[in-house]
Amino acid sequence: MDANEVNKVAGAVLGMLTLAMGIGFFSGALVSPKPMKKAGYELPDNSGAATGGAAPAAAEAAEPIAKRLASADLAKGESAAKKCVSCHQFSKDGKNGQGPALYGILNKAKAAVAGFNYSAGMKDAAGKGGKWDYESLDKFLTNPKGYVPGTSMGFAGVPRPDERANIIFYLRSLAETPAALP
Ligand code: HEC
Repeated sequence: MDANEVNKVAGAVLGMLTLAMGIGFFSGALVSPKPMKKAGYELPDNSGAATGGAAPAAAEAAEPIAKRLASADLAKGESAAKKCVSCHQFSKDGKNGQGPALYGILNKAKAAVAGFNYSAGMKDAAGKGGKWDYESLDKFLTNPKGYVPGTSMGFAGVPRPDERANIIFYLRSLAETPAALP
């Protein structure tokens, strides 16, 4: 085979490949995938503004916490809350560690656990008022640094809305008489 023939063969092979690819593209365009019954993502109803820029996308499509709590699972919440125990204690006689003790945190004022040295950011949030109700816990746990800028809670957040609801449902149970559900 001289160089010319080699070129011809190479050309033929390339031509075949191009044709095969072309057919692939063309048939791909003809046979389009079946439309899904339900869209892959739901547009948020936009009533609750999305929290801080870095919040995971899933957070925006979340149903309101009141709705998610209705189907929350205490056991799953307790197990998901293992993420917190390196810094927080949950028992009634729990001590402050890297984070404040969290028994009875639901409906407690922000930055109000005795003896804990809060960050300026958290004190600031407390200064603006409000307590840890279901909504604020949901927002804080979605993206701690987005909700409380300057917080010293070194935790990325819980992106899954249902998992957050389970954790908050568990936090609610840490009280003599758990607060009413929203
Ligand atoms: C790496 C350690 C760490 C982890 C993990 C962590 N936290 Fe925290 N958390 C902190 C610190 C530190 C603070 C105090 C923040 C401040 O002062 O800005 C805090 C504050 C809080 C507060 C506010 C308490 C108050 O008295 O105002 C809540 C609520 C809370 N954490 C819940 C959780 C939950 C629920 C989890 C698990 C899903 C979790 N945290 C995981 C360290 C952590």
